[in-house]
Amino acid sequence: MRPWWTGRVPLFWSVVFTLVLVWLVLTWALPYAAMWVTGGDRPLPVPGALQVIYLVLALVGAAVYVSISDESMREFLRPLVAFLRGPASGEQFFRLARLAVLLLVPVAAGAIVHARSVPAVGPPTSLRIQHPTIPGAYERLKNPFRQPTDEAVKKWMDETKAAGSLETGRRAYVQAALIEGRLIFQINCRPCHGAAADGQGPMAWGFRLKPADFTDPGMIATVVEAYAFWRVREGGPGLPPEGSPWDSAMPIWKQDLTDEQTWKAILAAYDLAGVEPRKPEKLQSSRLTANAWAQSAPPPDTAESLERGKAIYVKRCLVCHGEKGDGRGPVAPYLDPRPRDFVTGSFKLRTTQSGEPPTDEDLLRVVTRGVPGTAMPGWTTLSEQERRLVIAYIKTFSDAFKETRTVVKPARDVSASPELIAKGKALYQQAKCWECHGQGGRGDGPAAPTLTDDPGDFVQAANVTKGWRMKGGREARDIFMRFSAGMDGTPMPSFVDSFSEDDRWALAHYVKSLQTDEEPGAPVVLKALRIAGEVPRDPDDPRWSRAPFLAVPLAGQVLAKPRWQTHSVDAVSVRAYYSDSAIAFLLEWDDRFKDIRHESGPDPTLGQFTYPPRDLRAKRTEKLRDAVRLQFPVPIPTAFERPHFFLGSAGRPVALWHWQADLDAAGKNPVVKEWAEGFQKPVSAQADSGQDVTGRGVWKDGRWKVVMVRSLAPRERERDVTFEPGRLIPFAVQAWDGFNGDKGLMMSLSSWVFVTLDAPVPLTARLSSLLAVVLTGLGEWWLVRRVRLAGPLTGPPLDGA
Ligand code: HEC
Ligand code: HEC
Ligand code: HEC
Repeated sequence: MRPWWTGRVPLFWSVVFTLVLVWLVLTWALPYAAMWVTGGDRPLPVPGALQVIYLVLALVGAAVYVSISDESMREFLRPLVAFLRGPASGEQFFRLARLAVLLLVPVAAGAIVHARSVPAVGPPTSLRIQHPTIPGAYERLKNPFRQPTDEAVKKWMDETKAAGSLETGRRAYVQAALIEGRLIFQINCRPCHGAAADGQGPMAWGFRLKPADFTDPGMIATVVEAYAFWRVREGGPGLPPEGSPWDSAMPIWKQDLTDEQTWKAILAAYDLAGVEPRKPEKLQSSRLTANAWAQSAPPPDTAESLERGKAIYVKRCLVCHGEKGDGRGPVAPYLDPRPRDFVTGSFKLRTTQSGEPPTDEDLLRVVTRGVPGTAMPGWTTLSEQERRLVIAYIKTFSDAFKETRTVVKPARDVSASPELIAKGKALYQQAKCWECHGQGGRGDGPAAPTLTDDPGDFVQAANVTKGWRMKGGREARDIFMRFSAGMDGTPMPSFVDSFSEDDRWALAHYVKSLQTDEEPGAPVVLKALRIAGEVPRDPDDPRWSRAPFLAVPLAGQVLAKPRWQTHSVDAVSVRAYYSDSAIAFLLEWDDRFKDIRHESGPDPTLGQFTYPPRDLRAKRTEKLRDAVRLQFPVPIPTAFERPHFFLGSAGRPVALWHWQADLDAAGKNPVVKEWAEGFQKPVSAQADSGQDVTGRGVWKDGRWKVVMVRSLAPRERERDVTFEPGRLIPFAVQAWDGFNGDKGLMMSLSSWVFVTLDAPVPLTARLSSLLAVVLTGLGEWWLVRRVRLAGPLTGPPLDGA
């Protein structure tokens, strides 16, 4: 008896269908199911060897099933034989089609073998366990500020002379811990985890493994608080191997925060994210619904709605913008630019005339999007209703909002054309935009070093080539608005009266055309091309323009003291060539000013917690150099385990190629080779005998171009990487901008990315694909002959059945 499902479908096709199904499950369904079960953010592929085993099993199963009897064998082969024999009357079209298939099969076999035997170098898959098991020592800990003991509350009430019952005292005690926790969180955790605890902090940009999003119900809401406490104290380096410690930027906070501060920060993290920790006895996670009222219909402009707006402000905005709205919140001293002072009523991102306050829609847009490149986050974690409520509240800080406003809107949209862009280019000269923004738009104009805003703080002229950092948006319409309305409180003037609307569209499209396409994105592998003869040593060598680039995102160094979130370099483009004997890297990054002297002062004093406050007015006495550094693991890790991306780890060292602008300017070898085994230990220069990297840097129009060259094998193999074609070699980039005050650990850094030397196709790969073509061809020939001459099987005629 036949199974029901072969009733219609011929046996041959049902076998093919089943095999395809098995393959789909292996390559697609299982990885996604595993992602769903483990709560990861990407599919977990089935290991290659396992895939082969399952496929072979499926094939064997199919073969056994098909060859169970002569009858089923014949039935199975029927479509194949029918195809090879062709219809009784030979039709031209069918013959051609059959010939094509017969030719294609060996070619396809050759191609598959070729693809399999050429060493494929893709980005490494990262298998990561989201929540590894908590170590026993932490398991039983409880947050002493969530359910405080009576003694703790009484002691606190005595100390603070708080009146009232034990119950009110308890509530006040928890509230005080929460307020302090918010501050600890906003200063120390916000740069990565974001002001709204949504994982969108300004430093998240530079880390490949993104900071945890606490508002995600699958994150800290599914763990007990002791788990979070363990993770905060021990950080990425404290993770077990399956948690991939080498990619996690999560710092080891036990070095910088007390246990009490850590518990308070965790209390605040849950509160800001609007989730509750898992109760040890309960299994599901719970999400607070405290914000539910805010989703309801908009309340009229009443005292009550202002109260609601104020509550949101106090919880979300006060840390930066201050209790009085004057921009002097406790986090403000660490930020550059400083948070807006709402009392002056002067705003940057408006559609209104210069000197006028913004419209409600302008405010809604900026509160929703945030201000890229600054600490001002986008508040999509708040409902639109909540955003409108808080906006209504911040308007009460200034009388300016009582005045009338004139909206500066373009009458129509004009799209770009080469003529318009050429006209814009001329206007850019005429309007002297270059005085501040520089000829290339990188913010390096002659007036740029001395610009200050109304409060007297140094302000950078925008680098308009970085679309991702445009505060008001990167589209031509946004750019049009910025220089039409001006940016109040800054030197950026309004040009609405000096140029016609058509001229302003021309300028807007020209400025937009300056945006670079070297924007960091998803790719993490740099391909080094092979070059005949010598590798290019000059940064301006025209051959560089033909090499593919990898745009690497960088974050401020916020992993260890002294932390640095006001870094300057946020992207470095890397290119590489190699020859028979040497390899050359070209690193390019925007830097407004060329700093080629180095006279460093004492280390900065740290503020309240772990960050040095940022002084925007101090006259700099230090002269600090620009520099860039390439980091390689030694030796190249074979397994998944890499050193920490920030200066390696104990027992997993890294070699550093450190190019320094002052050495270059002085005509010395500008690249010092260094050695590090974790950021806790100082970086040391390698011995003179190992110094084998040379280099050269050129600064022009607000951009450094630096070439570093070394032979493929280092002089001392124990102290540096050996480059071999076809291998995936991790590297990381670090950069310093002297003008910005970068020095020592106060720098920009990247996570691990990878370089691979484009390998020539190995001879064995060519031979084996040739062999595959020949063998498949022979097999076909044999089959065709058998079918034609004898018929493969005896039995009823195949045709006309
Ligand atoms: C330099 C960036 C950075 C800073 C600063 C930082 N974190 Fe993290 N944190 C991360 C990254 C990246 C992850 C995700 C990788 C991991 O789990 O280690 C993470 C993960 C976590 C987790 C684990 C979440 C989970 O469900 O597994 C907790 C809890 C946490 N951070 C809390 C904090 C707290 C509290 C602070 C401030 C005291 C802080 N972090 C500061 C980068 C940072
Ligand atoms: C982590 C600090 C931080 C927090 C929290 C924060 N802001 Fe800001 N905000 C800033 C900074 C810094 C700027 C200035 C950006 C600039 O000058 O380019 C800013 C600017 C603004 C501006 C002015 C935009 C303009 O056009 O000039 C508004 C409005 C604003 N914030 C509203 C809010 C609201 C509402 C909240 C709370 C829901 C909030 N901010 C929370 C840091 C913060
Ligand atoms: C006196 C110096 C000065 C001149 C002249 C000047 N700018 Fe600016 N511009 C600035 C400064 C400073 C900023 C950044 C303000 C900030 O970020 O707070 C800026 C910002 C901008 C921005 C906004 C970028 C963003 O982040 O959204 C654009 C666009 C812009 N300028 C275009 C122009 C154009 C076009 C001209 C000539 C018509 C011009 N600027 C002339 C100083 C100047």
